[in-house]
Amino acid sequence: MVGITLDAFSSPWPVDWTQEFGRPAPLVLEIGFGNGDFLIHQAQSRPQTNFIGLEVSLPSLKKAERKVHHAGLTNVRVLHNPANMVLWLLLRPQTLDGLYLNFPDPWPKHILRRVVNDQFLHLAASRMKPGAFLDIATDHPDYIPWVIEHLERTPYFSSRRPTSFVTEDDERFRTKYEQIALAEGRVCYYFHWQRNEAAAADLFPIPQEKPMPHVILHSPLPPDELARQFQQQRHQQGEMFISLDELFQSARTGALLVETYIHESALTQRVGLTIHQREAGRYIIGLHELGFPRPTPGVQFAIYTLAQWLCSLHPASHILSHNLNPDVGERLASLATNSFYDSSTPPL
Ligand SMILES: C[S@@+](CC[C@H](N)C(=O)[O-])C[C@H]1O[C@@H](n2cnc3c(N)ncnc32)[C@H](O)[C@@H]1O
Repeated sequence: MVGITLDAFSSPWPVDWTQEFGRPAPLVLEIGFGNGDFLIHQAQSRPQTNFIGLEVSLPSLKKAERKVHHAGLTNVRVLHNPANMVLWLLLRPQTLDGLYLNFPDPWPKHILRRVVNDQFLHLAASRMKPGAFLDIATDHPDYIPWVIEHLERTPYFSSRRPTSFVTEDDERFRTKYEQIALAEGRVCYYFHWQRNEAAAADLFPIPQEKPMPHVILHSPLPPDELARQFQQQRHQQGEMFISLDELFQSARTGALLVETYIHESALTQRVGLTIHQREAGRYIIGLHELGFPRPTPGVQFAIYTLAQWLCSLHPASHILSHNLNPDVGERLASLATNSFYDSSTPPL
């Protein structure tokens, strides 16, 4: 049986979908597939198309996984990752032939959590081929005008109908939420749109992964003193936010591990940054391999920040070497008396 579940953290960025499915075929994405019945129905009705389903609820993912196996489908892959993360990291520009968003959570009090917003539509547009369909359905009284407003102002999509939406679509396979809405007498709104020819700048380039980053520095302070002086630190740079949360020290070796939260656009990672004393006064800061960390620009920024903090603790501290990217490296250079970086390294 084919492995049908992928994970955005451990998959290549982007995924080669032709290789993943073992064949070239049109590629369609469903965001928030719920009980999976719609996804399975589509995959059964269109065996010549490859389908990707996303769901952030783990019980729903597990149920759908079992149903896909049971149905013996080889043209479906599912992921337990949020929509923006998968669109951003796993899909090359102009890859998708269609996108379904059925009855997205309306988040009436937390509108920032809604899947549909200007950023999502731009990101989706950049990953869709011209002519690819965008089908959204909702019955929620707050979400209906929200979707209309966002779709009508995006330059990248056009309605396939003479109007922005229709309230009848008898040919559809009904999803679970749709059946409930109809049974309770609510009107469902169906948005049948498509990606038009307007070029969408790739504002979301797939992050280029770097070699495992490290900084080597001199500090006269012993590890115990570093541990004693550590305090939580938060830093923001553009879309990037990092928090050096907690420092742990190994009782056996004295090595230090800093639990770090890194948020960069649609990707969030919790990683461990290590501070090892190689010999007295000489430290190497790096990324712990536990838990599949990806050496993204955010990780570089976090390592830079940790090195900067460590240097700030004693005037005799300085950077000896590092392999961070030039622009991070330039900032580090201002702290260093003997820094270098490999100028062949591409920018972040
Ligand atoms: C209201 S339910 C609708 C389920 C199904 N589409 C239906 O119509 O029956 C919305 C689903 O979207 C999922 N979801 C919410 N945000 C998501 C995101 N960012 N990416 C993927 N799935 C998401 C939720 O876990 C939930 O199962």
